[in-house]
Amino acid sequence: MAMKKNNKINEIRIACIGAGCSGVGQMMLLERFLPGCCVAFCDLNRNYFDAAMEEYFGQGSTAMAGDFKSDAQNLRSDFRNLQFYTDVDEMFKKENINTAIIATFCSLHADMVEKCVKHGVNILLEKPIAITEGDVEKVWRLLKNYPKVTTVNFTMRGAPVSVAAKEHVRNGHIGKIVSVQYSNNVHYGDYYFRRWMRIKENIGNLFLQKATHDLDIINSIIGLKPVKIAAFGSRLVYGGDMPNDLTCDICDKKMICPMSVHKRFLDAARPLTAKHERKCVYAKEIDIDDNQVMIIQYEGGVTATYSQSFNAPPQGGGRGGTFIGTDGIMELKYYGDYEENSKNEITKGSSQLNITKFNAKPSSRIHEVYDWAGHGHFDGNEYGMLGKIDLLKGGSSDVAGTVEEGYISAKMCLAAQKSIETGSVVSLNLNM
Ligand SMILES: NC(=O)c1ccc[n+]([C@@H]2O[C@H](COP(=O)([O-])OP(=O)(O)OC[C@H]3O[C@@H](n4cnc5c(N)ncnc54)[C@H](O)[C@@H]3O)[C@@H](O)[C@H]2O)c1
Repeated sequence: MAMKKNNKINEIRIACIGAGCSGVGQMMLLERFLPGCCVAFCDLNRNYFDAAMEEYFGQGSTAMAGDFKSDAQNLRSDFRNLQFYTDVDEMFKKENINTAIIATFCSLHADMVEKCVKHGVNILLEKPIAITEGDVEKVWRLLKNYPKVTTVNFTMRGAPVSVAAKEHVRNGHIGKIVSVQYSNNVHYGDYYFRRWMRIKENIGNLFLQKATHDLDIINSIIGLKPVKIAAFGSRLVYGGDMPNDLTCDICDKKMICPMSVHKRFLDAARPLTAKHERKCVYAKEIDIDDNQVMIIQYEGGVTATYSQSFNAPPQGGGRGGTFIGTDGIMELKYYGDYEENSKNEITKGSSQLNITKFNAKPSSRIHEVYDWAGHGHFDGNEYGMLGKIDLLKGGSSDVAGTVEEGYISAKMCLAAQKSIETGSVVSLNLNM
């Protein structure tokens, strides 16, 4: 159902809390659609922001915008002079802001939500909404009936293929949903182990970091609530006994180690990662699982499986699922073959949707291709952000993730982790 908030505001004045890869990327994107809307940002330091501006204005490169990298077109030159703060409370005190992006480390999301609620601003929150049971419930409590616009950044929701898949199921093209088989083999999995995301304290687990998107996609397509979850997980690829501060740049094995960014650059022509994403993937501090599976029981007896791994080779990655209904089957494939240039920008790639019905002749199968070359998250970044802007302007949107959806997805990830730790089936107990 489309979300509707009746709080039209004349001027959207945005501040970003946590100006790293996501925060800066989102500000650049918002500026593309609403030039001049960003007024300030807050971070512990402005290193990432300055490096991103240097790349963009210096070399015309958007690589520093990471997952949001294609979004910095025609950025105004004075964007780099945005007011900068290191303290959120000071920023709220001094700036006239009505909307905040929260894109800090995941462990801080709940505290930042609390501050934003105190100041009564619209909240564009990154996923996951939080990483502990207490904080997830806290965010839900704070935002459940909050009268301003609130969204959760499920970037794949705006992808045209996601919208089409949902419509096909809603329109009964595969009948009543029976089960789902979904997987995500991440071909850039080492990225998570080269930065702050590699420890539990910062992200909880990789379900909360990665699966939260896919679970939201499954939930949104089938339109049902999850009831119980069981899961398994282990760490078989990353972690070890190397020093925590070791990077590929200073390592003796930089031209021998198969995980070295330099070796991959030479052998496999993989673009070098950004300098701050070259930490050794065999570091001691790594304590999260790198492969996980879960099984889900939905209301009405519908079942689903989900698995994720973080060591697929560059051309061997894939994401998507098979949705089985009483009248047919729908295969959703977000990506498979794609081409990247030396700046890590994807120049060619597409998503595909295939629907095969029981009572249809073989060649009347539905086959749809969604080309997303040049854009992040399968075109979801742009359409998702346009959905958020519609909400901020008092309209409605089907593609801007809601807090309820963020809550359910986070609860599923926490339940799966609890199942791994306790060896038991976990009931979701959603406080709806
Ligand atoms: N929706 C998506 O597809 C997507 C993609 C990437 C990241 N994310 C999410 O975005 C968030 C940030 O991830 P990222 O990849 O941008 O990481 P990042 O490290 O690039 O950025 C995080 C920023 O938060 C800042 N920060 C930390 N503590 C702070 C504080 N107390 N006050 C203000 N700023 C503070 C850090 O200095 C850093 O600049 C995470 O929650 C992550 O899950 C979402």
